[in-house]
Amino acid sequence: MTRKLRSQAWFGGFGKDAFIHRSWMKNNGLPDDAFDGRPVIGICNTFSELTPCTAHFRGLVEHVKAGILEAGGLPLEFPVFSCGESNLRPTAMLFRNLASMDVEEAIRGNPMDGVVLMAGCDKTTPSLVMGAASCDVPAIVVSGGPMLNGRFRGKPIGSGTDVWKFSEDVRAGLMTEQEFAAAESAMSRSPGHCMTMGTASTMASMVESLGLALPGNAAYPAVDAHRARLARLSGRRIVAMVKEDLRLSAILTRKAFANAIRINGAIGGSTNAVVHLLAIAGRIGTELTLEDWDRYGRDIPTILNLMPSGKFLMEEFCYAGGLPAVMKEIADLLDLDALTVTGKTVGDNIAGTENFNEEVILPRDKALTQQGGIAVLRGNLAPNGAILKPSAASPELIRHRGRAVVFENIEHYKARVDDPALDIDETCVMVLKNCGPKGYPGMAEVGNMALPQKLLEKGVRDMVRISDARMSGTAFGTVVLHAAPEAAVGGPLALVEDGDMIELDVESRRLHLEVSDEELTRRRRLWTSPVPEMQGGYQSLYVERVMQADHGADLDFLVGCRGHDVPRESH
Ligand code: FES
Ligand code: MG
Repeated sequence: MTRKLRSQAWFGGFGKDAFIHRSWMKNNGLPDDAFDGRPVIGICNTFSELTPCTAHFRGLVEHVKAGILEAGGLPLEFPVFSCGESNLRPTAMLFRNLASMDVEEAIRGNPMDGVVLMAGCDKTTPSLVMGAASCDVPAIVVSGGPMLNGRFRGKPIGSGTDVWKFSEDVRAGLMTEQEFAAAESAMSRSPGHCMTMGTASTMASMVESLGLALPGNAAYPAVDAHRARLARLSGRRIVAMVKEDLRLSAILTRKAFANAIRINGAIGGSTNAVVHLLAIAGRIGTELTLEDWDRYGRDIPTILNLMPSGKFLMEEFCYAGGLPAVMKEIADLLDLDALTVTGKTVGDNIAGTENFNEEVILPRDKALTQQGGIAVLRGNLAPNGAILKPSAASPELIRHRGRAVVFENIEHYKARVDDPALDIDETCVMVLKNCGPKGYPGMAEVGNMALPQKLLEKGVRDMVRISDARMSGTAFGTVVLHAAPEAAVGGPLALVEDGDMIELDVESRRLHLEVSDEELTRRRRLWTSPVPEMQGGYQSLYVERVMQADHGADLDFLVGCRGHDVPRESH
C-alpha cells in the first residue's frame, strides 16, 4: 500500500525513537518484518474473570489474531477496563464513561492503525464504541455471543427475565427457596452473555444494525463455531478496512442510527440502547436526539419473539437466521444504502438471507405489537423526556391515572415497599426518586422496582412505575424510565408527593403530574439537593460532569471526536 500508516510514526525509520519502539516490542518475539509498514491492529479486549460475560475472550481473541495474521496485519492485544454488569457496584453504568476514556486514550496513544473491539456484557459494547468513535479510526466490533439457553426442570429459562419472575414467585409463595436456589445453576450454562434480548444482546444487535460488525454478530452463541469463524473473518476484515481507510465516521451516519433505532423496535430491544446510542452519536459528532427515538422507532412492529417481550431466547434467534433475517423482514423500513464494515451496504449484506422460523421471527402481521420501539414521553413530570418500552408494558396500563406512592430513594423504597401498613393498591403509581445519573450515582437499573408483597400475593403482576433510573434490558412491565431532569438536580420528579395524581398516556406520549404550577413552585422552594458529599476519585468527577439521560449520560467533556493524530514523541 502507498499510504503511510500512523503506526509508522512509531515503528518506521531510523534513530533513537524508532529503536525504542521496535526493540521493546521485539521482546514479544516479533521479527523485523513485523514493522515493515503492514497494518498494526489493536485488539481491545474486555476479558475479565469478574465480567463472566467476557471470561471466554482469551480463547476468542486467538481467532481474531489468526484472521489479522492471515490478512497480513500485525495483531497487538491490549486490555481495557471491563464493565461487568453482574458484579460492579453501585452500577456498571457509572463506569461506562470511565472505560470509554481508557479505550480512547489507549487507541490514540499507541501505535495502531485500526482496532477490533471485543465486547460482551451490556456496558462493554458502548464503552468501546464510544472510545473508538472519539478517535475515528477503522474499527470493527466482535461480540462475545450469548450463553446457551438456560434450562430448568425441562423448560427454557432466560437470563435476568426469569430472575425477576422467580424472585416474585418466591415472594408470592408460588416457588420454594430450594427451587429458586437450583435455578441459579440452570440459568448460566455456558460462556457468553445474557441470552435474553437484554442489553448485551441488544447492543450486539445495535452494533450489527449500525454496520459496525459483520452480519450474524448478534446471535451466534458464544460457544458456536460460527462465533469463532466470525471473529477470524473480522480479523481479516479490519486489515482490509485499514487499507481502505474505512473509518467509523463513514459508517456512523444519521442513516445508520435511524436503522438501529428501527431495528431496536423490531427486536424489542433494551431501553438502555437509548442512552448508549445517544452517547455514541455524541462522540462521533452525528446529530441524534431523544426525539429521534420516537420519530424513527414509532410504529415499528416488534417481530422478534424473544424474552422479555416474547418467549424464545438467543439460541432460537440464531437458528431462525439472526439479525439479518429480522432486517430482511423490515427491509422496506430501513435505509438500505447505509455503509457497513463489510465495505458494502446494509442492502447488500442482507440480500439472500432467510427467515427459518416464523414462530421466532414473526411475519409483520403477526407481530407481538405494532407499536414497538421506545415511546418518548413528555409532560410537566419530565420536561426533557422520559421513556417507556411499549412491548414490555401491559396493554391495560399504557393509559392510566393513579395516585402516587413515593419513594425518596432506593433505601426508602426497600424499607417501605413490603410494610403491610403501606397505603397502596394496584391502581397506584409507584414513584422512585434520586436514582438518576447524579442521584445514585450512575443511573442504576432499579426502575423496574418489585411490587409490594401484599399485591403480589393478590396476583397483581404489573403496575405503573416511574423513576429517573434505568432498568435491565431483561426486565418488563409498565415502567417509565430516564425521567429528565432527574430528581437529584431538582427535576419535577423531586417534587412529587404521596397522594398526587399522575396521568400516563403512552399513545399521546403524555406524562402529567396533576399538581398546579403554584403548588410546584411552593414545593420547589422547600427542596434541597440530596446528592451526598463525594469523597473524591472518579465518582466526584462523574457526578460533577455527567449529563442527563436525554443526552446519553456521557460526561460533558467527553462529547466529540478528538481524532487520531499521532501525539508528540515520548522520549
Ligand atoms: Fe453480562 Fe447480562 S450480566 S450480559
Ligand atoms: Mg443488564
